[in-house]
Amino acid sequence: MYNEPLREELVLHPIEKRVLQFLTKFGPASFSVIAEKTGLDEGAIAKAAQWLASKNLVKVEESIIDKKVELGNEGKIYAEKGLPERRLVDFLERIGGEAELSDLKESNILSDEEIRIGVIWAKKNGWIEITRRGDEAVLELRKYPKERIDDEIVLQLLKGGGRSLASLGPYAPTCEKLSRRPGLIKVSQESIHIVTPTEKALKLGDELLTAVEEVSQLTPELISSGKWREVTFSRYNLFAPVKATFAARLHPLTMLIDMVKEAFVEMGFEEIRGPLVELAFWNFDALFQPQDHPAREMHDTFYLANPDRGEPPAKFIEPVRKTHEDGGETGSKGWGYKWSLEEASKLVLRTHTTATTIRYLSEHNEPPVRVFTVDRVYRNEKVDWKHLAELHQIEGILMDKSVTLRHLMGIIKEFYMRLGIRNVRFRPSYFPYTEPSAEVEVMLGESGRWTELGGMGIFRPEVTRPFGVKYPVLAWGLGLERLAMAVFNLNDIRELYRNDLSWIRSVPITFSILKKERG
Ligand code: PHE
Repeated sequence: MYNEPLREELVLHPIEKRVLQFLTKFGPASFSVIAEKTGLDEGAIAKAAQWLASKNLVKVEESIIDKKVELGNEGKIYAEKGLPERRLVDFLERIGGEAELSDLKESNILSDEEIRIGVIWAKKNGWIEITRRGDEAVLELRKYPKERIDDEIVLQLLKGGGRSLASLGPYAPTCEKLSRRPGLIKVSQESIHIVTPTEKALKLGDELLTAVEEVSQLTPELISSGKWREVTFSRYNLFAPVKATFAARLHPLTMLIDMVKEAFVEMGFEEIRGPLVELAFWNFDALFQPQDHPAREMHDTFYLANPDRGEPPAKFIEPVRKTHEDGGETGSKGWGYKWSLEEASKLVLRTHTTATTIRYLSEHNEPPVRVFTVDRVYRNEKVDWKHLAELHQIEGILMDKSVTLRHLMGIIKEFYMRLGIRNVRFRPSYFPYTEPSAEVEVMLGESGRWTELGGMGIFRPEVTRPFGVKYPVLAWGLGLERLAMAVFNLNDIRELYRNDLSWIRSVPITFSILKKERG
């Protein structure tokens, strides 16, 4: 059986106990002092100190006490053989102050790489000059350094092993300079860690600090000898802080989509999908949007160039034409213009998922119909912090014998309620395909900020009659990304699609709008 959770219980490893014991007795100390006095390994102390710090029992402070200087790989060689620039000028001095580069190479005193380095530094130091004689580069000695220079002294001083920078006194600047030459010397920081017990640690009882030998591995020997009865086993600390690992996970938006779909399915709706490339007929005409409606214009709708036309279903062409022109059998006067099949045949990227629900309704005109879709729509909009050109809508319809606006408001409220949003309100609005029409606004938590999330209404007879639908159709189309912005507390809608891993990882996979609100 499982033990009770250990959250509140203080679990200390024997090494942690010994470190704490030492600190509570003698006060703050460095890792090395603790190691010296307790006989514990310094690495183990460092680890224990880290754990103790995470349990708020000690404070660990690092202070840089000195810098350590030691020879690098090249430095070790040069300390033996001399710096390349030194060996170069020694050679020139020996042969009379001047040599052609090819002579130097042939002499084999320096490798090609050493010649390259030697020439650079000898020139920098003002020891040589390079001139040309025909095709040849000639090295001329200008000033021969008789005495050892500081660079060479430092190499000699370090030959015996690393030293602290402070102990090199006046040669410290030379060390800094040499550390910038690749491979010559390494300067590293030496720091000590001071561990100080906290108030909490000082108040711990003695029995907590008594280090009992603990067994962390159950071995066959322990079992067969029966010794397991006597020993104390270390406990697992289930709440030990560990490095976060990031396994595969769903994108927060995908998770939200799943929640939305689940909510509608639970409410008895069936999911449908429709094409992204849609006939203007379904996107606009079937919804009684006049052909000169501003939303159809190029700046709002993406029209396809190739292919640019499709074929609206023959059986619906005349009923829709008549409805637009004079109202047909719908009891309406229509828009009173000449409807163009040409215009209705154009292909567009659907601008709303209402195209998908009306398409479905045209083939399912007997009650009841309860369907929803969560899918992409496209708008030719300038993308900014609150607008996307490609986004998702949460769309649905309910058709049944005696449904009313009250039911519609109930469905929308119930839906948001299932996501944990209690505050939903409606404002009268206008859409060419619904009457009455309303806008949906929600407030997250008690933020006081209302966010407009979409539209809804009851399809007009001009929309339903041409498809033989005889009963009221409740319809809604809600924004997904705006909802996501509110849920995830984003200031910029583009964040949802930036694939910023740190943001994606920061959203808990157990996120729920509900958790906060259901209470
Ligand atoms: N299609 C509308 C939009 O894109 C929303 C809506 C759907 C309004 C259904 C009423 C009915 O904003």
